[in-house]
Amino acid sequence: MATVKNGQVVLKGYIEGAPKKDDMEMKIGTVELKAPKGSGALLVKNLYLSCDPYMRARMRNFHGSYIQPFVPGQPIEGFGVAKVLDSDNPNFKPGDFISGFTCWEEYSLIHNTSQLRKIQPDDSIPLSYHLGLLGIAPFLRNLLCMPGFTAYAGFYEICSPKKGECVFVSAASGAVGQLVGQLAKLHGCYVVGSAGSSQKVDLLKNKLGFDEAFNYKEETDLDAALKRYFPQGIDIYFDNVGGAMLDAALLNMQVHGRIAVCGMVSLHSYSDPKGIHNLFCLVTKRIKMQGFLQSDYMHKFPQFLEHVTDSYKQGKIVYIEDMTEGLETAPAAFVGLFSGKNIGKQVVCVARE
Ligand SMILES: NC(=O)c1ccc[n+]([C@@H]2O[C@H](COP(=O)([O-])OP(=O)(O)OC[C@H]3O[C@@H](n4cnc5c(N)ncnc54)[C@H](OP(=O)(O)O)[C@@H]3O)[C@@H](O)[C@H]2O)c1
Repeated sequence: MATVKNGQVVLKGYIEGAPKKDDMEMKIGTVELKAPKGSGALLVKNLYLSCDPYMRARMRNFHGSYIQPFVPGQPIEGFGVAKVLDSDNPNFKPGDFISGFTCWEEYSLIHNTSQLRKIQPDDSIPLSYHLGLLGIAPFLRNLLCMPGFTAYAGFYEICSPKKGECVFVSAASGAVGQLVGQLAKLHGCYVVGSAGSSQKVDLLKNKLGFDEAFNYKEETDLDAALKRYFPQGIDIYFDNVGGAMLDAALLNMQVHGRIAVCGMVSLHSYSDPKGIHNLFCLVTKRIKMQGFLQSDYMHKFPQFLEHVTDSYKQGKIVYIEDMTEGLETAPAAFVGLFSGKNIGKQVVCVARE
């Protein structure tokens, strides 16, 4: 087996505040295209890499979280779709496609194969959708990188939706938000999304089927904006951002409303996040507010796969990806998540096959 050059993206050192492109750098290593005998490992060619907000939390030297920090100088670890080139594992063979934890490099030697999922190629579903629409890692606990299943588990299990209810989704055009809104529409809800540009607002209303959408960056008063779209109040808030939007949503919730706390991307950029002021609304309006990790709902995976795959194939849902070309584009693509540069699920194409 040949030894070839292996482009890699590494984290230079731990960071404070919003991530910058220069916090990462490209390195060229070498790799033998072989899974060593007795290792049980796979040697894979990485095809698509996922950029996810949770990865920011791994760029700080904090060991008390649900996941370990990255190791500076080493390739960044992340979710990806790859093709097996060599296998020392009886469960995988060369030519198989897999999704799961790999590294930001052209080729990876993966030892922890128990966290991988074999993908059955399907001509009607792009391989990269296994990072977004169908994104899931069945054997990973406590991981925040599977948008499709996150949307499904959060909406149905945490929000307990009823037909006709009023649903608000923040970061609505992103990897998770776009599916939450479409599931809510299929469920017969009235759905409003917030996003950070007029292009995204247009997408929400004209391609993703939201009833209404607004650009939160153009609103001077978020409370007033939500009152405009929800004069009767919000039954369900699917929160992807936290911060000021969560504070405003609390003021606009209906009695017995539900808030699914999916993530707080607005806080990732601050070393000293601001507090929430309107939590008293939980009491006066008897709101149920619950954080969740998609990994707690694995028993719902078969229903998710059937529902979302069928809906996609029947044209009832669409999925928007933002794909950059080349491993070297990964740092900028990742950093863009924190200023809203991505339109849809952010994916990096390393190679097409
Ligand atoms: N609980 C779980 O199991 C789980 C699993 C996966 C993801 N998540 C969480 O779900 C959320 C969405 O993730 P995603 O993968 O779908 O990301 P995404 O929405 O595709 O990308 C992030 C988006 O967040 C918005 N944003 C960035 N900075 C912001 C700020 N300061 N204030 C408000 N919005 C900001 C931007 O959109 P705009 O242009 O609209 O501002 C950006 O495009 C994240 O909080 C993530 O951590 C949770």
